[in-house]
Amino acid sequence: MCGIIGYTGGGNAAQIIYEGLKNLEYRGYDSAGMAIMENGACKTVKSCGRVEKLGASLRFFGGHTGIGHTRWATHGKPSNANAHPHTYGRITVVHNGIIENYAELRQRLTERGEIFLSETDSEVIAHLIDGFYDGDLIEAVIKCADMLKGSYALLCLCEGKEEIAAAKCRSPVILGLGENCNYLASDMTALAGKCKEVCVLEDGDFALVTPLSAKIYDGGKREITRAYLPNLAEPSALALGGFPHFMVKELWEAPATVKNTITAFCGQKDLIKSALSGVRRIVFTGCGTAYHAALAGKRYIEEFAHIPCETDYAGELRYKTLNVAEKTALIAITQSGETADTVEAARLYKSQGCTVLAVTNSPYSAITRIADVVVPVAAGAEIGVAATKSYSGQIAALYMLASLVAEKEENFAAVAEMPKLILKTLEKIDIYATARLCAESSGVYFLGRDIDYAVALEGSLKLKEVSYIPGCGYPASELKHGPLALIDGSTLSVFVITDPDISVKAEGAVEQVLARRGKVAVITGLPGVKHDLKGRAEIIELPRCDKYLSPLLSAAALQLLAYRTAVILGCDPDKPRNLAKSVTVE
Ligand code: F6R
Repeated sequence: MCGIIGYTGGGNAAQIIYEGLKNLEYRGYDSAGMAIMENGACKTVKSCGRVEKLGASLRFFGGHTGIGHTRWATHGKPSNANAHPHTYGRITVVHNGIIENYAELRQRLTERGEIFLSETDSEVIAHLIDGFYDGDLIEAVIKCADMLKGSYALLCLCEGKEEIAAAKCRSPVILGLGENCNYLASDMTALAGKCKEVCVLEDGDFALVTPLSAKIYDGGKREITRAYLPNLAEPSALALGGFPHFMVKELWEAPATVKNTITAFCGQKDLIKSALSGVRRIVFTGCGTAYHAALAGKRYIEEFAHIPCETDYAGELRYKTLNVAEKTALIAITQSGETADTVEAARLYKSQGCTVLAVTNSPYSAITRIADVVVPVAAGAEIGVAATKSYSGQIAALYMLASLVAEKEENFAAVAEMPKLILKTLEKIDIYATARLCAESSGVYFLGRDIDYAVALEGSLKLKEVSYIPGCGYPASELKHGPLALIDGSTLSVFVITDPDISVKAEGAVEQVLARRGKVAVITGLPGVKHDLKGRAEIIELPRCDKYLSPLLSAAALQLLAYRTAVILGCDPDKPRNLAKSVTVE
């Protein structure tokens, strides 16, 4: 949700910020802008649309200190006026987050005669800081923060000063320590290859950076220290490496993700086991794709360890009455580790004395600072907005977690087989014909039973997200209770059938769709299903594997299906409309 970056040093600030914004673009791509300090004055450029539109203006800038922003619109439509940075008086700011009391603040400032140029919640920040500024920028930023309700990661320039001030509350800010230069950013990926060490700011922290100093303050303007950590952002994660899109590049990284997740998980085994020892109830949570992984996690725990489990979307869970009478653990699943709903749900459970485990591939993220134990997903950075390899890593980690709790570590051998089976799936499956059917359909429905239903939901989300074709996921058993009314010759139903124990039942649902002239595609590793439906449905064949690990194969096939469909329709799978990676606002 909005990417922000600041730089101060000896280099060309505009060029460095432009490169940083390109790396941050997955966090929002409605509009972009930057402000550069030149001869004591702040020069700004903004543009509606993608970051690359700023490229033509770079030659007009020569300063060494600046801030930039790539926007995912919350308050105010995507437009030049609403693009950041926002300036008032001597102050220029970029902001990620939501200022919940902006309307009240704006009214107060308007009554004072101040004029607003945008519809954003962020513009009040520039007005407030300017009002408080009396020669000390950090003091003015602290006073402003006192008046803000909501979430913010904000960077601020002040005319005449080669320095950047930052404030953080519930939106991430990373300080990057370079050689004779310093950076501030919403995300470590913006700092890939730029500096060796980073500091992760905590809520309530403020920072003031110049080319030669980086100071962190608390709300009382007392200087504080934060740990210096190695910068883990890999420049290779930001390169397409010969692939046309990040989505397909990252899909092909699923085998390595699972392999590396096994190694990382084994390194944390004892901690995970002791965190869950004696637990009587487990609540799984996450949003979007991570929630779909949670559904699989619940099945694994129930099946292997026989511990009662629940799942809920994090955004729902955090507003429900907590029932923590029994010894309860929360397992929060999040790729970014920064999703506001998931982080807040974890904070809530933690505050009630529950054990919190975070399943994530973002080592310095907010969720890791709340969790008792991190269950590592070794996916590296995921740049495509649609989750792919992170889901594979989450499934592998949850399967191992459940096996560990159930004292069935012999199951790990089956996971170790999966990287080569995922690779085989990606190499062998022929998805084009089904992708063409999807592209021509008025609606695409995804159906499955038990664990296949969890995958069906993921397949449906992925297709909608990148190709904008309407549809939904259902348990195949529910078809006849309503959704069957949607089926006609213009629709496609994609069945996931990997469980030999209930495949006959799922095939029954296939027949019901075929009888209504609906088109059908079946993703299966079961030879009997293939035989029964050959010639009547598109068959996407998977290698055989343990039914509980089949999501690693069937979801890879569905992710590829969504990708190919998007490409056929001319949609950009890496930057779906209206979306952004890492949803740090409610
Ligand atoms: C779908 C997708 C989203 C995310 C969701 C949670 O392809 O990427 O649904 O899964 O926004 O994000 P994280 O995992 O970062 O908490």
